[in-house]
Amino acid sequence: MDKLLISGGIPLEGEIRISGAKNAALPVLIASLLTDQNLVVSNVPHLQDVTTTLELLGHLGVRIEVDDKLAIDVNAAELTSHRAPYELVRTMRASVLVLGPLLTRFGEAEVSLPGGCAIGSRPVDLHIQGFEMMGAQVKVEGGYIRASIPAGRLKGCRIVFDTVTVTGTENLMMAAVLADGRTVLENAAREPEVVDLAKCLVAMGARINGAGTSQIEIEGVARLSGACHRVAPDRIEAGTYLAAAAATGGQIQLNGIETNLLDAVLVKLDAMGVSIRVDQDTIALSVDGCRLKAVDLTTQPFPGFPTDLQAQFILLNSIARGTAAVTETIFESRFMHVQELQRMGADIELRGNTALVRGVKNLSGAQVMATDLRASACLVLAGLAAKGQTVVDRIYHIDRGYDCIEEKLAQCGARIQRISSSRYPHAAVHTS
Ligand code: EPZ
Repeated sequence: MDKLLISGGIPLEGEIRISGAKNAALPVLIASLLTDQNLVVSNVPHLQDVTTTLELLGHLGVRIEVDDKLAIDVNAAELTSHRAPYELVRTMRASVLVLGPLLTRFGEAEVSLPGGCAIGSRPVDLHIQGFEMMGAQVKVEGGYIRASIPAGRLKGCRIVFDTVTVTGTENLMMAAVLADGRTVLENAAREPEVVDLAKCLVAMGARINGAGTSQIEIEGVARLSGACHRVAPDRIEAGTYLAAAAATGGQIQLNGIETNLLDAVLVKLDAMGVSIRVDQDTIALSVDGCRLKAVDLTTQPFPGFPTDLQAQFILLNSIARGTAAVTETIFESRFMHVQELQRMGADIELRGNTALVRGVKNLSGAQVMATDLRASACLVLAGLAAKGQTVVDRIYHIDRGYDCIEEKLAQCGARIQRISSSRYPHAAVHTS
């Protein structure tokens, strides 16, 4: 398994272009199942999860071509299967998003239960309840979700989500675009990735109003056409690099980011004492020599503070002046990074879903292990900030969601390299 070897203590300085959003690219690529015409998707990030999604679509019989500008041309005119197997779904939970499109276009779908992961049990009960309300018959047996439509076509209806669910909103929005009549999704997710998917579906001929609000209305149509769609920029990638610059006392400019996607994050960075400059599609951050101030935060559905940046901000608080309470309200066990940060000298006490973080002057480099995508990003940032060397193991987690992370950081002066454990079985870690 590859590792990242990081020599810390160097302030990041430079510019980074933000890639397309992973959590928008995945549902947009899967939306190709809704039509027999070509969907051309550009600005797709180069990520393991995108590869897995294309593997899954290929398994179903979708024809996939990559053009000379690296745009992905997908066509689902002749599917050979309506079944998403365990071996593909278990590596990427978002595979459950094929359920809605397959069901609404072909009247049947069989998708492996995604199973839990490091951050929680991650059920899909709200997805299933929604499909049943639209007239689907859903059986969960043998680790698979088997859905069919006795009446032949889903029927639009009003669905109230008990909990805000991003992929639940996306799955049911895609099911509703070909349903008979109107569907209203109440307490819908407002995430920008939901908005980007809706934009793509409308370009394909869907009739959707209210995406980005907690009430989304979909008027079913008979069929969808093809379209061209450019994936929106990745706000979580952007927030991660802003945190990296803040953690190392550097200065960074992010290019190609929609600045209104990060308001809740910029408020917290401002409270920590960094300088932020926002222009049309760039965000610049600099730390003017002063030590960060600790800042409390609570994760919330968009437009609140994103859970996908919680780990990175626990890291910032762990080297800030003062004590902060970081509360995670979205997932039940999203603190796996804490024990690894403690090994680097962080002073963090867990109290239920709140981490009490007492800032220390410096972290020390160590060998640490990534457990999930955003925890691994937090550990890379910790290595950049710490004194000495850090080796982050199991970085296949980070390859799922960050496009060329070591290249982007190295171009800002970071001393970071990928090592394959087969070449360096016992990578030495020198901590000063
Ligand atoms: C999406 O996951 C994102 N993934 C996650 O990003 C993100 O952390 C999460 O939304 C929250 O913003 C993708 O978009 C591919 P949820 P999702 O359904 O949709 C509960 C990353 O690092 N719930 O919004 O799976 C659930 O347990 C990943 O990029 C149910 O109880 O999350 C959780 O507590 C990690 N029943 C809460 O809702 C359901 O049927 C929010 O989950 C569905 C969800």
